[in-house]
Amino acid sequence: MRVILLSVLLLVALLAAASPPELGRKGMVAADEAQCSAAGAELLARGGNAVDAAVGTALACGVTQPSASGLGGGGFALVQPAGGEPLAFDFREVAPAAATRTMFIEAAQKDASTLGGLAVAVPAEGPGLAALHKRLGRLPLSAVVEPAARLAEQGFATGFHLARSIAKEDALAQALFGLPRPPLRGDRVRRPALARTLRQMGKSGGASLQTGEGATALVAAIQKAGGVVTKADLAAWTPRERPAVRFSYRGWQGVTFPPPSSGGVVLAQILGVLEGYDLAALGHNSADALHLMAEAMKHAYADRARLMGDPDRVAVPVAALLSPARVAAVRAAIVPGRTFPPDRYGAPVDIGKDAGTQHISVLDAEGMAVGLTTTVNTAFGSKVVDPVTGIVLNNQMDDFVARPGEPNAFGLVGSEANAVAPGARPLSSMSPTVLRKGDRTLVVGASGGPFIISSTLSAIVNVIDFGMDPQAAVSAPRIHHQWSPNSLVVDEGIPEDVLRALRTRGHELKVMPFFSAVQMIDGAPGAQLGASDPRKGGLPAGVR
Ligand code: DON
Repeated sequence: MRVILLSVLLLVALLAAASPPELGRKGMVAADEAQCSAAGAELLARGGNAVDAAVGTALACGVTQPSASGLGGGGFALVQPAGGEPLAFDFREVAPAAATRTMFIEAAQKDASTLGGLAVAVPAEGPGLAALHKRLGRLPLSAVVEPAARLAEQGFATGFHLARSIAKEDALAQALFGLPRPPLRGDRVRRPALARTLRQMGKSGGASLQTGEGATALVAAIQKAGGVVTKADLAAWTPRERPAVRFSYRGWQGVTFPPPSSGGVVLAQILGVLEGYDLAALGHNSADALHLMAEAMKHAYADRARLMGDPDRVAVPVAALLSPARVAAVRAAIVPGRTFPPDRYGAPVDIGKDAGTQHISVLDAEGMAVGLTTTVNTAFGSKVVDPVTGIVLNNQMDDFVARPGEPNAFGLVGSEANAVAPGARPLSSMSPTVLRKGDRTLVVGASGGPFIISSTLSAIVNVIDFGMDPQAAVSAPRIHHQWSPNSLVVDEGIPEDVLRALRTRGHELKVMPFFSAVQMIDGAPGAQLGASDPRKGGLPAGVR
């Protein structure tokens, strides 16, 4: 029945749109770059499961899109086996032991939390992906790293997003590819040092990057750039397995990522609020529907700023924030015809140049779903590149409240709950999410800083409330409100009359092309539809 439904959806999509979702029969990988999706699909075709494919895809993404993720960063993976319990696997970076609450207030450089060695939190992607693979993967790790190592060794075509993000970065072009000037789209580039690093990781089960040669090189590069990460920090880092946030939405059962991501709680609260309204009757991207979504976002993002941080340090009131009482209180505070004056002002959200994350959705033939989001934070992280391992180091320290009262690179404000503290994990917005209804599964998540949550939300609502196929759902224009700054950010393509109706309700609009990128799979046994966000030029890969 579901297969028939999905086949009909595909047919409608084929007839209706120039760009239908990709169809798989034996599994699907949707990453935000075509060569990465292909790397994951290759692992599925070789008998790997969704975890093998997600890990291999993430490693490949770190090769072909070094602005957006890689072994110098960290992330989250949400695994939902076909039957059984979900696993929220946290491989987020932590602040080094020498970090202090005031380090960025005292730093000579104003941009010390985003640029250079001090911005670097303990790199965690390598040991994290290796540990996730050890826990649930099926193929040997040496096989899982191979598609990525091959791309790095033999070279790959510079993609749309890499060409765009490296266009003005001469020093990075030299450090990453040994080129005197940035490559253009289509130019072949190689990363032989990274190929060696990946194969060492495969052989050592990740230990090379935590206690071995790779770790020594990484620490030297970070310290040379003024950072304080030590070998002891790398050796002490451990992943965490956390209870997934569970929610329901219009008959679908969802699981999403808990703190230290704010994403799952914010997403689940907004969906809880929206369930009280008939969005489909209001119409897709109508002013009435967008207003309700914006108001729900403002409440949930305000809770994020006030209350959320590393759950190992502060008690994040997840249950209270998702309780029926809280959801009812938010609904009661929403007035259809108007929005309210700003409580607080912040710097405008500076979008366009930040693109340090990638989200990967995988669904295998056995129904195991993995949403994996991995990040170096802003584009090329701290811009520190270790010449020995070829790894780009993150600037995840900026996800803490680096300077109290000041917004971070994404315009986000926060509280004491997210202060810099040795060993703490900085608050994140990454929201890998899986929804199930009967034998139908949605796997979804995004990159885009705080836009991750609102963009994931839009894609879910577009499928569940508006009946869209996943390609239409991730491509449609969307909105974002993060409470502070008090502007409703509107994607290009929302009609003028809708903008006018939103302004009438009191929203201060900021219209701009969105940079967030959603990857989504809508699948059932025997048929999976996959979609990558056109905003980042990605393509999914199905296994036939
Ligand atoms: O963890 C976070 O929320 C941020 N470090 C994510 C940054 C991001 O998505 C950048 N963009 N594409």
